[in-house]
Amino acid sequence: MSERILILGATSGIARGVAHALARRGHRLLLAARDRDELERLASDLRIRYGTEAGIIVFDVLDEAQHDVLCAALEGDSQALDGVVCAIGYLGDQERAFREADEARRIMRINYEAPALLLNRLAAVFEARGSGWITGIASVAGDRGRQSNFIYGSAKGGFALYLQGLRNRLARHGVQVLTVKPGFVDTAMTWGLPGLFLVADPMKVGEAIVRAREKGRNEIYVPGFWRLIMSIIRSIPEAVFKRLSL
Ligand SMILES: NC(=O)c1ccc[n+]([C@@H]2O[C@H](COP(=O)([O-])OP(=O)(O)OC[C@H]3O[C@@H](n4cnc5c(N)ncnc54)[C@H](OP(=O)(O)O)[C@@H]3O)[C@@H](O)[C@H]2O)c1
Repeated sequence: MSERILILGATSGIARGVAHALARRGHRLLLAARDRDELERLASDLRIRYGTEAGIIVFDVLDEAQHDVLCAALEGDSQALDGVVCAIGYLGDQERAFREADEARRIMRINYEAPALLLNRLAAVFEARGSGWITGIASVAGDRGRQSNFIYGSAKGGFALYLQGLRNRLARHGVQVLTVKPGFVDTAMTWGLPGLFLVADPMKVGEAIVRAREKGRNEIYVPGFWRLIMSIIRSIPEAVFKRLSL
């Protein structure tokens, strides 16, 4: 059955992979992000390629007044929303964030606070209706604090915990919540970063996310081998871990 799906952060590399996987299945998409030109390019590509509906919503998740506008537009729409994918993210600069409150605040807000505030609103609609699904993209960076990216990692870890609690609340109301923890993926976010390994193709990652959603999974690592890598990293005793330069 064709579903109507909102993708927040739709212009992101991983979200594009998700959008292609969903459009290929005939789902109707609403693509939301800040960059109007990129959204329009993506929407027309999806329409031409798959013959599916793709609308755009220009919005900044940091502007809470725009949450009101977005939610009002969705409520006033005759077609109901079946699902939401949240791929909004900002890696930022760890060293700068450690020294400058503005950069730290931006990382914390874009990766955790602002998406959680918006998802609260959308989740309440799904809860009242007793159906729907939410897929949120967290990160392996949220599984253990590391000196090289603990400000971004702590925001992603907070977002993962938020999604876990949301799942616990909504499961009894027939609403599925999937937490996605990607490893390194080849997108604008990671372009040119040193020291990356096992970098995944965003199209394959998008397909894996959509399949996991269809199977009703709760939490996935993509690619799947990151589950093992992260369980090893989490198992290192803190007394040893604090001396590692990770
Ligand atoms: N790439 C990786 O290796 C990796 C690994 C683990 C987790 N992740 C997570 O996976 C998700 C997607 O990552 P990606 O690498 O595909 O990201 P990306 O290409 O850097 O895209 C980031 C997305 O967030 C949107 N965004 C940023 N600030 C926003 C704001 N204030 N309001 C609305 N939208 C905003 C951007 O859209 P506009 O600029 O158009 O607004 C863009 O669509 C992110 O949550 C990221 O943290 C990525």
